Amino acid sequence: MYKQLQQRGMPSPPVNVSTLRQMKEDGVPIACLTAYDASFAQLVDLAGVDLVLVGDSLGMVIQGHETTVPVTVGDVVYHTRMVARGIRRPFLVSDLPFMSYASPEQALDNAVRLMQEGGAMMVKLEGGQNQVDVVSCLARHDIPVCAHVGLKPQSVHKIGGFKVQGREPAAVRQMVEDAKALEGAGADVLLLECVPNEVGEMISEAIQLPIIGIGAGPSVDGQVLVLYDMLGITLGRTPRFVRNFMEDADSTLDALQAYVLAVRNRDYPSSEHCFS
Ligand code: KIV
Repeated sequence: MYKQLQQRGMPSPPVNVSTLRQMKEDGVPIACLTAYDASFAQLVDLAGVDLVLVGDSLGMVIQGHETTVPVTVGDVVYHTRMVARGIRRPFLVSDLPFMSYASPEQALDNAVRLMQEGGAMMVKLEGGQNQVDVVSCLARHDIPVCAHVGLKPQSVHKIGGFKVQGREPAAVRQMVEDAKALEGAGADVLLLECVPNEVGEMISEAIQLPIIGIGAGPSVDGQVLVLYDMLGITLGRTPRFVRNFMEDADSTLDALQAYVLAVRNRDYPSSEHCFS
């Protein structure tokens, strides 16, 4: 009956929340990438990625929007379903899109959709202390939560663009308090986007949760990148934290494996991908 019990002795059993906590404890960096379809999901799994995120970045890289704001729960369910069919080992996280978690009840309904209709194992939402009620409601219902702080792309119109967060002492203090509040509310993982290295260090010291960074420096517990950015598919200027792993690769799988290795060895991110 419990398939996970049979998988326990396997060389690479499926990743779950305990695996992520153990990796943090053992100092093994967690490699995470986004994926939006079954073919890329299979490759990402084969490359050894631990956590796959069906991010609302799909609004930009798949749908061609300028922001993630137009993405709907139906869109994320659709892409999560495809990714779920492509992966075996990685933990599958899906984004709750803009305004799909404005109340605990709405968050619960939409998280259930992502899990039951899509196959997600964890949901991600953007916010800090303002989302404590939502996170604790999901946690009370045993729904694993990844809380996303730092640059919150769903707030792009409010913050005035995609820019580095946590440059001022008050903003840093707020971010540290946010991280502690989210941990206290029952979040399982924190995603930290686009902050100076020093802020990554401070938040790492303030909480026990595994922290996955994107442009948050080397001191966090894992790294995530948008798949299309790290494969060099995204045209034009990409954020400073992006490294194009296709540049030195012979194939897509080769590039994905190079990414996993670079994260594990802490070769990525290097100083050129960090904010000071
Ligand atoms: O939507 C997404 O892909 C994300 C990444 C930027 C981490 O949240």
